[in-house]
Amino acid sequence: MIYAANFKTNHTRATTKAYIEALKEKLLTKKPEDKVYIFPPATALDSYAGDFTIGTQNAYPTQNGAYTGEIGVEQLTEFGIKTILIGHSERREHLSESQEKVAEKFTFFKEQGFEIIYCIGEPLEIREQGIEAVMQYLLAQFDGIDITYDNLIVAYEPIWAIGTGRSATVEEISSTHRALKKAINNKPLLYGGSAKPANIKEISSIDGVDGVLVGSASLDAGNFSEMFLA
Ligand code: PGA
Repeated sequence: MIYAANFKTNHTRATTKAYIEALKEKLLTKKPEDKVYIFPPATALDSYAGDFTIGTQNAYPTQNGAYTGEIGVEQLTEFGIKTILIGHSERREHLSESQEKVAEKFTFFKEQGFEIIYCIGEPLEIREQGIEAVMQYLLAQFDGIDITYDNLIVAYEPIWAIGTGRSATVEEISSTHRALKKAINNKPLLYGGSAKPANIKEISSIDGVDGVLVGSASLDAGNFSEMFLA
């Protein structure tokens, strides 16, 4: 299983450092086959060593240059960061990242050899139309995306389950993952959307779930580690 913590716009450089210190202790007893990722905000990126991977929540598809407010490969390489989240629904929605922009970013970071956690997810009105509408919506989010890329992990995150406390049901996750796994040639597939210690056992036992991308429940190191120590 993969356990990925997405801090979003939470934590500072100092609290991220303390978080990682606390986590390191917990990581001593995690199952060796499990993998833990942490995506802190850009200002907290650093060269942390340990049994986990630090990734960036975002970056601009450039080595460096005149892109005010953005970071590129040069800033990530300083800390040996080679993992990136692309396509998160919050960036698609609040930062107006179109599928075309998302695909451009994907292609750039693929060419740089980055490990990419590529996020897809449908809004509630699509979910309410049933699994066929959901799959049509989700598959459109692979437009311009090379799903044969070796370093690709996909994260299915229904938008209505993100940050709401209401995760998708076992049946919703299971039918969607089954269909997605076929479409992505069995690449690792994470579930995201209100995953937490209380539902991790149930979610991780679903066929086709290879891990979780966790927002709110990842913000506390003790809480997050309860998930991979469960
Ligand atoms: P959540 O966020 O766990 O707070 O629902 C998940 C995500 O957006 O990755």
